[in-house]
Amino acid sequence: MEIRNICCIGAGYVGGPTMAVIAQKCPKVKVTVVDINEKRIKQWNNPDVEKIPIYEPGLSEIVKEARGRNLFFSTDVDKAIDEADMIFISVNTPTKTYGIGKGMAADLKWIELCARQIAEVSKTDKIVIEKSTLPVRTAAALRDILDSTGNGVKYQILSNPEFLAEGTAVEDLRNPDRVLIGGNIDTEEGREAMEALVNIYASWVPREKILTTNVWSSELSKLTANAFLAQRVSSINAMSELCEKTGADINEVSKAIGMDSRIGPKFLKASVGFGGSCFQKDILNLVYIARTFNLKEVADYWEQVILMNDHQKRRFAANMVQTMYNTVAGKKIAILGWAFKKDTNDTRESAAIYVADYLLNEQAEIVVYDPKVTEEQVYSDLDYLGSRSGDANRQAVTVVDSPYEACEDAHAIAVLTEWDEFKELDWQKLYDQMLKPAFLFDGRRLLEPKTKKDIGFEFYAIGN
Ligand code: NAD
Ligand code: UGA
Repeated sequence: MEIRNICCIGAGYVGGPTMAVIAQKCPKVKVTVVDINEKRIKQWNNPDVEKIPIYEPGLSEIVKEARGRNLFFSTDVDKAIDEADMIFISVNTPTKTYGIGKGMAADLKWIELCARQIAEVSKTDKIVIEKSTLPVRTAAALRDILDSTGNGVKYQILSNPEFLAEGTAVEDLRNPDRVLIGGNIDTEEGREAMEALVNIYASWVPREKILTTNVWSSELSKLTANAFLAQRVSSINAMSELCEKTGADINEVSKAIGMDSRIGPKFLKASVGFGGSCFQKDILNLVYIARTFNLKEVADYWEQVILMNDHQKRRFAANMVQTMYNTVAGKKIAILGWAFKKDTNDTRESAAIYVADYLLNEQAEIVVYDPKVTEEQVYSDLDYLGSRSGDANRQAVTVVDSPYEACEDAHAIAVLTEWDEFKELDWQKLYDQMLKPAFLFDGRRLLEPKTKKDIGFEFYAIGN
């Protein structure tokens, strides 16, 4: 089966970059990315490619090459569904904020809306692909909805979870460790659909890296991968606290254990806590699924990864307050970095939000500098927590566009995102502008300690 026309519902952090790379690598396939968010689509269509809504190294170049050739962004969802042979569903699946499973389960209302729209609009057979991260067995619900119209249109449902990390999305998509495709291997049509998707990826991914499984394994593998990754961060962060009490250094411990090939060196960097839109939501979802099957020990085991992460963010902020003579009331604190990791403008669940909130509760004045995050985003993140009024957030928090301005007359600096540019700042100049003693809290183990201490900073780094 040859695929000529792909539609992707959801022009977000996954849909946008993934489809851009497919369009680049498969120039004969027409790829249309649709979204109900008009502003987002307008931004994707901005003639100035530097202004597309998602910042990822290398992405604007690809969009420049493929947009208007075989890559299109549109709000006409019905048309794109109607024309497509293959439909990726790449909409958001956040944690539920209401009803049963509130605060734990994935909210599948956007997925269901997509399925209903596909069922309503389609006149020809379609391959429907779960690209969003979903609870195991969601494909069964999709099947029910898609088949409910009884209009004779046939659907093949595949699971094709995405493993890209933000900040390296383009590189991860171009050169993935593996591509996972789950489908119905028991039927001829199921196997054909899987082969059609394999062929898309095989345009640039070696076949041995394209793994096919049954649908349930594929759905569950995505949740498992994120749980394992987050668990590594929580494990090393747990050790970072012990390091601080014992004189061990977490970077040395990470290196020592990472050289064991069974453990491996990646994802062992201690931090102020993991953020991002997915680790927490996917583990909460896993915990919820385990609880619904009455697997109490399994649920409790994975929940601990989240509890440890919450503790890490809280203890970092508490340590700042304690170190600064148990009060930060009225003190100006510069936060360098608001994104949840470097090289992205995404701030979802960023540790910086929670550290700032803690300090604001202690009546600190906060000044934020991040090279890619807008003022509007910082306020919206704080407002979303609901800890205080929007006015109170705007009164206590200032967002500036220079790190030097942020640190002027500050009592302390907290480095909360590992942006490379922070390493290169003129730290002597920053020190000279600050009130003394000048405190510097490195939540990322980004800065070289000795030179900072030599300048005169009261220097504190996580895990040391
Ligand atoms: P996102 O919020 O950036 O984008 C989702 C988009 O879907 C939004 O623009 C929204 O307007 C649109 N949308 C929602 N319902 C729609 C509908 N009915 N019709 C048309 N458009 C609709 O989300 P994201 O970060 O791209 O994540 C999408 C999925 O991919 C999630 O399930 C997430 O868990 C998963 N995932 C994300 C990442 C990541 O790095 N962000 C990585 C792997 C997997
Ligand atoms: C993560 C996974 O790495 C992707 O494979 C997955 O596709 C994605 O989630 C998803 O499903 O959304 P992402 O959240 O974009 O990707 O970024 P990561 O590089 O995994 O970082 C997550 C958080 O952990 C960041 O806050 C980062 O700073 C932190 N982290 C990561 C550490 O604190 N230490 C580490 O050693 C690694």
